[in-house]
Amino acid sequence: MTVLSGAGMSAESGVPTFRDVETGLWAKVDPYEISSSDGWRRHPEKVWAWYLWRHYMMKAVDPNDGHRAVAAWQDGAEVHVVTQNVDDLHERAGSARVHHVHGSLFSFRCDRCDVPYVGPLPPMPEPVETVDPPRCACGGLIRPDVVWFGEPLPSEEWDRSVEAVSRADVAIVVGTSAVVYPAAGLPEMALAEGIPVIEVNPEETPLSDRVTISLRETSATALPGLLQRLPALLG
Ligand code: APR
Repeated sequence: MTVLSGAGMSAESGVPTFRDVETGLWAKVDPYEISSSDGWRRHPEKVWAWYLWRHYMMKAVDPNDGHRAVAAWQDGAEVHVVTQNVDDLHERAGSARVHHVHGSLFSFRCDRCDVPYVGPLPPMPEPVETVDPPRCACGGLIRPDVVWFGEPLPSEEWDRSVEAVSRADVAIVVGTSAVVYPAAGLPEMALAEGIPVIEVNPEETPLSDRVTISLRETSATALPGLLQRLPALLG
């Protein structure tokens, strides 16, 4: 099984999604300003503060029943998780094969020499507008290992994700608005290869009328019982 998850997977853990207007993270910040290499060049201290806050915020939230269901599926099947999320909730729930196509809030690197940064992070007792990023020995700035708009996806994670999709007996797309490519192309790849695709999303998406089954349900309610429903759903 291959699970393709987006921000909606973590919504029931209390992590705001990107595009749900009333709560979406983007509602409060200009995405281009915060999540782009251009924004990083112009004001790294703002970008650093926003990612650092999300890094610390992740320690205050827990995986939900949806993450736990996906981890439990490993007992009887080979399960790959391809996630657009930069949180570590799938791993904390026990999923072993997680591919982060948009990077992670838990790894950092130098923006000049690319060397991974494992040094101390500035403390952040409460969200602040700006924090100066640590510096690398080479003089570069330490940046989050997250994929910004316009940047290439990590090639190894992408290759593993494409393989996980093409080898799947079933793909389950959870909690993504399916509008950001190339990640949004993965469910289309599965459909093109005749692999059944089940979507779990309380809202309709551009995928909804193309997938095998589209469940208008949330991940934490739909995923725990989904395996038992598969035979009836797939007929
Ligand atoms: N269960 C399942 N789906 C949910 C839930 C829930 N409890 N709550 C919200 N959703 C759905 C919303 O209906 C929406 O379709 O999750 C989706 C979240 O969409 P986005 O906020 O666009 O998040 P995502 O699809 O992951 O964004 C993709 O865009 O901004 C970039 O890099 C960022 O990885 C992100 C990418």
